[in-house]
Amino acid sequence: MGKPQAEEAIRLPTEERCAAELAALAATDDAPRPAGWFLSPRAVETFILGSRDVPIEHDGGEVVIARKFYGDDVLVQRAIVILASDRGLLLVGEPGTAKSWLSEHLAAAISGDSLLTVQGSAGLTEDQIKYAWNYALLLAEGPSKRALVPAPLYIGMSQGKLVRFEEITRAPHEVQDTLLSCMSDKVLHVPELPGDDGVVLARRGFNIIATANTRDRGVNEMSSALKRRFNFETIAPIDALDQEIRVVREQVGDLMACDEAATATMPEDVLELLVTTFHEIRSGRTTDGVKLDRASSVMSTAEAVSVGFHSALFASFFGDGAVEPAHLAIHLAGTVVKDNPDDLKVLRSYWDVGVKPRAAREKGLWKAYFAARKHLR
Ligand SMILES: Nc1ncnc2c1ncn2[C@@H]1O[C@H](COP(=O)(O)OP(=O)(O)OP(=O)(O)O)[C@@H](O)[C@H]1O
Ligand SMILES: [Mg+2]
Repeated sequence: MGKPQAEEAIRLPTEERCAAELAALAATDDAPRPAGWFLSPRAVETFILGSRDVPIEHDGGEVVIARKFYGDDVLVQRAIVILASDRGLLLVGEPGTAKSWLSEHLAAAISGDSLLTVQGSAGLTEDQIKYAWNYALLLAEGPSKRALVPAPLYIGMSQGKLVRFEEITRAPHEVQDTLLSCMSDKVLHVPELPGDDGVVLARRGFNIIATANTRDRGVNEMSSALKRRFNFETIAPIDALDQEIRVVREQVGDLMACDEAATATMPEDVLELLVTTFHEIRSGRTTDGVKLDRASSVMSTAEAVSVGFHSALFASFFGDGAVEPAHLAIHLAGTVVKDNPDDLKVLRSYWDVGVKPRAAREKGLWKAYFAARKHLR
């Protein structure tokens, strides 16, 4: 079957999606690069935080580097420093705060490869992170380098690349423990192979970016030996409403651009309504200071993007070509109300306490939003 053609893939890896930006940065990057790095730390920072509308001249044209991560700029700089050191980076935070997103972009910019990824789960085994065997070859020829099927850790160490370990706390302790020697001694042993083939020394450029969310199994589930090998960076949800609006606008726009059936437009004021709803329920207060009930589910930016995209699809398939406030309400309950039915009450009370007074005051959009309360079920 192989890799799907770019136009058939639902989502391309970052290094392919942002290939033009990465090529422009690499071509104009004259700062020193840590050994094994595809870009210098300054260029990695520009890739993540954007070139602030200043274009980079490349290949006879100009490329503006878009901002990918909104929030704490110093956190991003610190993350880059840690990855250039001998310690791993662990991004911790609530679900949907862009831990995976940041890790993917860092790996693409630093190693040119974001696909060396291990997904932590209770069923994860050592051979899924280190190496496995091609059993037909193993039986025919015995253990050999040819019969070895490398997994992300083997590839990252032997090629000097970053390895991403998603949801590391969900991996069994035995698997977490196998990381210890790879991270401290920078060596991976393959006892089945004789001589030099049995010892993989990590090339420079190798390191690990792990993520862990605070809602599932917390970082206290990690062995203390492994914790000591990582620097922790905690990512908070986006604090500024205007930044969150930008993220949702860009993300929904990107999703719609990849989908020929998504023909509807997303008016700016409807987008603002959507992000305001998420922002206010998450913070437990409206922008005019009215206290609100908080939902037990995660009101993350990622969930706002998903409601935005679903509303855009709904408007494309069944609406009049533009997303309306009612389309948001139709999709909100499905995202907010997961395992706790009380979250539906939280949504309805938001309509009573947050939406109703604005509907009375401002008419227009808020009035239409209030009228859509009937869809909250
Ligand atoms: N601060 C932010 N800057 C840019 N994008 C953000 C930010 N916060 C959230 N997003 C968007 O939210 C989406 C989800 O992020 P991601 O999947 O990386 O979350 P996560 O923290 O890994 O969540 P989980 O713990 O559920 O795995 C991304 O598409 C990202 O664009
Ligand atoms: Mg994640």
